[in-house]
Amino acid sequence: MKKYSKSDYQYDVLIIGSGIAGLSLALHLSSKYKIMIATKSKINESATLYAQGGIAAVFDEKDSIDSHIKDTLIAGNGLCDHEVVSFIINNARQCINWLVSNGISFDIKSCSKGKINYHLTREGGHSYRRILHNADCTGREIQNNLVNKVLINNNIDVAENIIAMDLITSDNNNVYIPRRVIGAWLWNCNKKQVETCSAKVIVLATGGASRVYRYTTNPDVVSGDGIAMAWRIGCRVANLEFNQFHPTCLFYPKGQSNFLLTEALRGEGALLLRPNKSRFMLDVHERAELAPRDIVSRAIDYEIKHNNIDCVYLDITHKSPKFIHDHFPVIYNKLLKFGFDLTKDIIPVVPAAHYTCGGVIVDKSGRTDINCLYAVGEVSYTGLHGANRMASNSLLECLVYSWSIAKNLFQMLPNINLIDLLPSFKKTHYANHFFSERDIKNDLNSIKKYMWDHVGIVRTTKSLKYAKHEINILKKKINNQYVNTHLSRQMLEIRNLVQVAELIINSAINRKESRGLHFIDDYPDLLPNAFPTILIPSNYIK
Ligand code: FAD
Ligand code: SIN
Repeated sequence: MKKYSKSDYQYDVLIIGSGIAGLSLALHLSSKYKIMIATKSKINESATLYAQGGIAAVFDEKDSIDSHIKDTLIAGNGLCDHEVVSFIINNARQCINWLVSNGISFDIKSCSKGKINYHLTREGGHSYRRILHNADCTGREIQNNLVNKVLINNNIDVAENIIAMDLITSDNNNVYIPRRVIGAWLWNCNKKQVETCSAKVIVLATGGASRVYRYTTNPDVVSGDGIAMAWRIGCRVANLEFNQFHPTCLFYPKGQSNFLLTEALRGEGALLLRPNKSRFMLDVHERAELAPRDIVSRAIDYEIKHNNIDCVYLDITHKSPKFIHDHFPVIYNKLLKFGFDLTKDIIPVVPAAHYTCGGVIVDKSGRTDINCLYAVGEVSYTGLHGANRMASNSLLECLVYSWSIAKNLFQMLPNINLIDLLPSFKKTHYANHFFSERDIKNDLNSIKKYMWDHVGIVRTTKSLKYAKHEINILKKKINNQYVNTHLSRQMLEIRNLVQVAELIINSAINRKESRGLHFIDDYPDLLPNAFPTILIPSNYIK
């Protein structure tokens, strides 16, 4: 890895984020261009690293592209962009082959006459076994292999512990060409200083925003930064009311846990039980435990609230210990540390915020509303997921869009100039006051609590309005602190989280119906026509 050591930089492309989206795009582009990946923590750290279930694609002979498309549209509940769904699913196999050519391996069922038959698992919403996986740690297999490829690539520089703070546009720089992105301000966590990077193109690959909720499966590095940065410079965002709650996160009251229990467990036969060991999903949906995620999470939420219980239980004890060890080795071992034996015990579970279906609006080439700014992966809104993402379609979207952006940039980059940043941008941020990390932590806990209690799995107009009021107060306080305080990772993140919280609430207030992941008690029905919720910032230029 060529680590960067200067305090300002110039590249063809700056990619912010090192999950599957950022890493694969960097590898695609590196055959021709100089790339910098700036990443908030260690290069491996990302939601991608923790992905368990796998990647959806049509590999079963009985399955078909049409069936994958149909299932995605059904899960998305009338809000998917049909053309985008078709584009992604039709390109799934070639993108997965690209992953395999980069050293990623998936579990194989059999291999005959040179033809590999992958072991495909099943998840909610899918009509067929369709999920390629590497045991129960598919994300680790992908992340570690892509990172290894990136680290030996001479055209990719990696900057760890660097947080993108904000994007610099040409008008910031007193250059009045058609407005475009020309660089970014970066916070160097080691040196505790502000630095800059200029680039011909910047790509946001910063992941989603589920950390805005109290209980989440997401790692700490994912804090809605890309959505907030894009919004601040005038990009539209869409469908942020559709935050997906994964039905089965470990319930562990002795300590906060964000440990996911993959949907593949249910795909392989695990059942959901009440504390008295009765099943409840049979009465809710014809696919029972394998209904789309929004339906399963809402059913669990109902059981918890109406029976006044803390959690429900996941039971796979009817499968043989060998089957469990072979298919779910990581989960089995991790649960042992929490005191549960997956082969013998039923496991307490609750839903937790998992995935941001909305995001920064992009076209099929990943272009945002601002010239030279692209977005890829969970930060973006492509139109694939509609009102509810189907399991294992996310890694797929990251892969297909990074390939598509690269194709576009091979055409565009020769015509884009690098613009020197004004020297005044390079000065460090001066702090007048000091706010302790405890203050920030308290405010962060408040944001997460308001979002969980009032903008959660089931909402009401009253709860949304209450959350809006409280979040507005916090936003004013945090923005005021931001300009008057010592910068820190916590300060940068809370500024973005409170911004995204506001956008989620505003989107939820705008939708006067219940659809997919957005269930609002006072509007329980579907409206006849489905439209995305688009929020337009005041500085948006058409
Ligand atoms: P991430 O992988 O989240 O990467 C974001 C990167 O951006 C990180 O490196 C982060 O450090 C960096 N970053 C963020 N902000 C900044 C900043 N301001 N400056 C610099 N760097 C920044 N999907 C599936 O399809 N199949 C699955 O089996 C599956 N399982 C999942 C299991 C878990 C526990 C979780 C949390 C998610 C799962 N998902 C799954 C969803 C999927 O993993 C994510 O949607 C996907 O990995 C997102 O990839 P990404 O590259 O967009 O972002
Ligand atoms: C899981 O393994 O249950 C997560 C899959 C996903 O989020 O797509």
